[in-house]
Amino acid sequence: MCGIYCYVGKKKAIPIILEGLASLEYRGYDSSGIAYVTDKINIIKEKGKLSNLINLIDKNTDTYLGIGHTRWATHGSPNKINAHPHQQGSITLVHNGIIENYQELKKLLTEYSFKSETDTEVLACLIDKLYQESHNIIKVLAKLSELVKGSYALGIIVNDDLNSIYAVKKGSPLIVAKSDDGTFIASDIPAILKHTDKYILLNDNEIAHLTKDNITIYNERLNILNKKTYTYNGSIEDISKQDYEHYMLKEIYEQPEVIKNTLLPFLNNKQKLPNIKKYQKIHIVACGSAYHAGLIGKYLIEKYCHIETKVEIASEYRYQNNFINKKTLVIFISQSGETADTLACVKKVKNNCDTLGIINVIDSSIAREVKDVIYTNAGLEIAVATTKAYSCQVAILSLIAYYNSKTKNIINEFDNLINDLNKVLKNDYRKIADLIKDDEKIFYIGRGIDYALALEGSLKLKEISYINSVAYQAGELKHGTISLIENNTKVIAIVTDKELKDKTISNIKETKARGAKVIYITTTSLDEEGDFYDEKIIIPDNKLFQSLLTIIPIQLIAYYVAKARNCDIDKPKNLAKSVTVE
Ligand code: AGP
Repeated sequence: MCGIYCYVGKKKAIPIILEGLASLEYRGYDSSGIAYVTDKINIIKEKGKLSNLINLIDKNTDTYLGIGHTRWATHGSPNKINAHPHQQGSITLVHNGIIENYQELKKLLTEYSFKSETDTEVLACLIDKLYQESHNIIKVLAKLSELVKGSYALGIIVNDDLNSIYAVKKGSPLIVAKSDDGTFIASDIPAILKHTDKYILLNDNEIAHLTKDNITIYNERLNILNKKTYTYNGSIEDISKQDYEHYMLKEIYEQPEVIKNTLLPFLNNKQKLPNIKKYQKIHIVACGSAYHAGLIGKYLIEKYCHIETKVEIASEYRYQNNFINKKTLVIFISQSGETADTLACVKKVKNNCDTLGIINVIDSSIAREVKDVIYTNAGLEIAVATTKAYSCQVAILSLIAYYNSKTKNIINEFDNLINDLNKVLKNDYRKIADLIKDDEKIFYIGRGIDYALALEGSLKLKEISYINSVAYQAGELKHGTISLIENNTKVIAIVTDKELKDKTISNIKETKARGAKVIYITTTSLDEEGDFYDEKIIIPDNKLFQSLLTIIPIQLIAYYVAKARNCDIDKPKNLAKSVTVE
């Protein structure tokens, strides 16, 4: 997703803005740019990596105000002309979001000539047109949501007020912050931690006016607001890789700690889990890995609580007839709390049923829209491919299932879990990764909860190594897909469910009979010798939290395959950490 980073203060602006943009790189982008003020507004933009932009700029330029942007192309190809900032008339701005009615707006702006293919430039023209009528930028920005459909987070310079930066948002995240050296606008919290751990969250249609010493925030009725200042609950260390080569590897190894931090408040009764037994049915709505975590939640809730549970991809759920009522609970799972498709679903159903968020970013957009929220304590997750946040989502869902079931004695399961996670993390999966790193077709198969894990394993591998793997229900292979299994095709088979073991082994043997090379992942209690696998990974048993152990080798195999293929593991091509566009 696009990244916005703006600064005005006592220090030279360019180094601060470039460093801020660098900390937003993990969001995913394909061009970048900066506008900075000397006696006029100067704009420099470039396609590709941030380093391409940095090579064009004198970091020592005598400027103390600027707006910067990393662009993840939505409208118009990733090139220099479409890169932000965009300037029209008195307005220079950077934008994160999508303007859905930009074509209609463009027809009202015939007096403007457009240089780019972007929706953002249309927005710059609209703001300039309104500004020319009133010469009051706060008033103009307060009106924007009446005219603009879609989402925006904006950083704006007005050319007759070169000591200020303005910000406004609707549907896309934006924070503002103040340090002793000046004031900041950023797309997310990590970007400002080098300067301050205090920040303010802008709500939709709130306008911020930043100068070197002050931040003033207005609502759409132009009243000055006294906003809450948050303090980041972590440390600057959170944004360092420490001794790890990649954030993803660091975050994989942080899982025992963050799972413990996530579960302990509930196990110590310091925090309460929701009573889900009062609902007739449960919907779980999410995207990507959060959806895969939801599938595990479904299996456990149906198994332990006997409540009908449906799991849906948010971009589908929002257009379906959802058949919800006051006896329905809709659970929204999101690491970022900013995923546009998931947020849209919250807004669609929130007045017709109870909603619960399982979210990692405190006070994120989804967290602020749902009725109740449970925060995963995964800490800052920087790698685009989620690992620890996914595991914390699974941990919370497991606990919800268990706490709402009859059986309660899980403390020993929890104690074993943390020890066993550390044990599994000590194993070396590089040999397995070497076996599959050159394959262009890999199958992950499993039944039930193991199919949910197969989906997550396949997504991890696709995301960071670009190998087109596929996850398949083991029992479904023979209905067509097994035609793709040929000599030496790699199959990663997951068997951790006792009831489904024999049937799944039969499916594995069907692939073996057609020449597949099988990597078999199972548990100590289910382990058996046999000729249906070529490599075997055995993990400890854990009645409730089994998936948290199974996912470890799956994550590490994907990591080491991507490493062997020299992929950009933390920032995979075309991907964003938080998909704030629909
Ligand atoms: C997972 O590795 C991906 N980064 C992606 O599928 C992600 O899980 C999805 O975009 C949902 O993000 P969210 O949890 O922030 O809503």
